[in-house]
Amino acid sequence: MGDQWVKLELDVASFDECRFAKYVTRCRADGIRLTTLAELGDTPEHRLALYELNKECSADIPERGEFYSYEEYAERRFAVASYDPRGVVIALDGDFWVGMAATSAHGDFAFNEMTGVRASHRGRGISISMKTFGMSFVRECGASKVRTFHHPLNESAISMNRNLGFVDAVD
Ligand SMILES: CC(C)(COP(=O)(O)OP(=O)(O)OC[C@H]1O[C@@H](n2cnc3c(N)ncnc32)[C@H](O)[C@@H]1OP(=O)(O)O)[C@@H](O)C(=O)NCCC(=O)NCCS
Repeated sequence: MGDQWVKLELDVASFDECRFAKYVTRCRADGIRLTTLAELGDTPEHRLALYELNKECSADIPERGEFYSYEEYAERRFAVASYDPRGVVIALDGDFWVGMAATSAHGDFAFNEMTGVRASHRGRGISISMKTFGMSFVRECGASKVRTFHHPLNESAISMNRNLGFVDAVD
């Protein structure tokens, strides 16, 4: 892919959670609860549940190809210094994990690793609500920017992030 990725960034100081209240309100009305992996417990069972959710959602990323094995995933996502379960937002419909938004901290910037919502629950504002919820972690980390990048054909993800205020990264 090289330089073809759509690289986006969000200015933390100018992000205004209130602008996204309608999405959060809709989620609440639909019975969707937002929490974090830290709150639920960063256990082996919950890590496996996160992997399964990530794997299912990633199947819809253009040209994603075969997903990692659990061992590969654990090495890349959990066994790294930037991993923090407080940065992993989970959306629950009852006990069912329907969405995730994982963010890691890298000093001056935070990185949105993966945002995904099960197909059955898309189009209800869950991704916007999760990412808005996750901004408290970003602020706690002291990051001034949030970065992410997407395959150019991933219109829903790019549109979701632009809706949140992400703009094309300068570098
Ligand atoms: C991208 C994804 C997370 C969006 O989740 P979602 O909960 O359905 O999104 P929301 O309902 O919160 O939508 C919020 C905004 O995103 C944009 N959006 C979402 N789906 C879209 C679509 N199919 N086409 C265009 N824009 C879309 C819109 O701006 C929308 O705001 P609006 O409803 O006011 O128009 C979801 O489609 C998904 O899991 N895709 C597969 C995994 C993936 O590609 N993740 C990103 C890579 S990290």
